[in-house]
Amino acid sequence: MSKKMLVAYFSASGVTAKAAWKLSEAAGAELYEIKPEISYSKEDLDWMDKKSRSSLEMNDPASRPVIAGKMEDMDQYEVVFVGFPIWWYVAPKIINTFLESYDFSGKTIVPFATSGGSGMGSTNEKLAPSCPGAILLEGKMLNGVVTQAELKAWAENTADTSGVDANTSVSVQAPGNVARMAAWIQQETGGDLFSIRVEEPYSADYDECLDRAADEKAENARSVLVEKVLDMAG
Ligand SMILES: Cc1cc2nc3c(=O)[nH]c(=O)nc-3n(C[C@H](O)[C@H](O)[C@H](O)COP(=O)(O)O)c2cc1C
Repeated sequence: MSKKMLVAYFSASGVTAKAAWKLSEAAGAELYEIKPEISYSKEDLDWMDKKSRSSLEMNDPASRPVIAGKMEDMDQYEVVFVGFPIWWYVAPKIINTFLESYDFSGKTIVPFATSGGSGMGSTNEKLAPSCPGAILLEGKMLNGVVTQAELKAWAENTADTSGVDANTSVSVQAPGNVARMAAWIQQETGGDLFSIRVEEPYSADYDECLDRAADEKAENARSVLVEKVLDMAG
């Protein structure tokens, strides 16, 4: 059964809007524009100016630009594509506002973006804490010419996360590649899936995670697991 999909996007100057429209057509998904309550002027978008609105927002971890309006029926969507321009190598802060405005736990979030040339960078590390419990997939850059057929194939593939458990698998942490790979192997082999979870969960913050990993390595630590595979012998 095909999953109900939404393409939600923010676009300051129209480039991402075009990509979002193409994607929604290719995927047969509904389209929703994330509109800022106060739209961005040319001066607001001046990245050369350290005091411009976009510079100030991107430098302030707590910044959450206000969105005009809210979707009433977000619950019906299982897969939400979220599009945006890359700003300073990550998603604009209004995308954090969007993710924090709804309960996306158990749903699949698929970022896509346009840029002047950069890739997704550390986008997912910044987005993961704003959508706890969601399956946050690795995003795709939609710069340049992307065919409808390519978009359709991508949308269909990403929508299929059957076997990935958002509550217990490591897929809740960006980018979730290991969980996707494990779910795929399980599907292909028919084996059982066991998620190795530590009693003290790892932070979704990339730097905190790195620090802890360095400490654990230095101490030759053996983290306590939440549960064991009970019938390993079988
Ligand atoms: C404040 C700001 C920061 C940007 N930072 C980057 C960047 O880090 N890397 C990049 O390749 N492009 C960057 N760009 C360019 C935009 O990502 C690019 O023009 C995008 O396609 C615009 O999409 P839009 O028309 O949907 O807003 C930046 C643009 C702005 C306004």
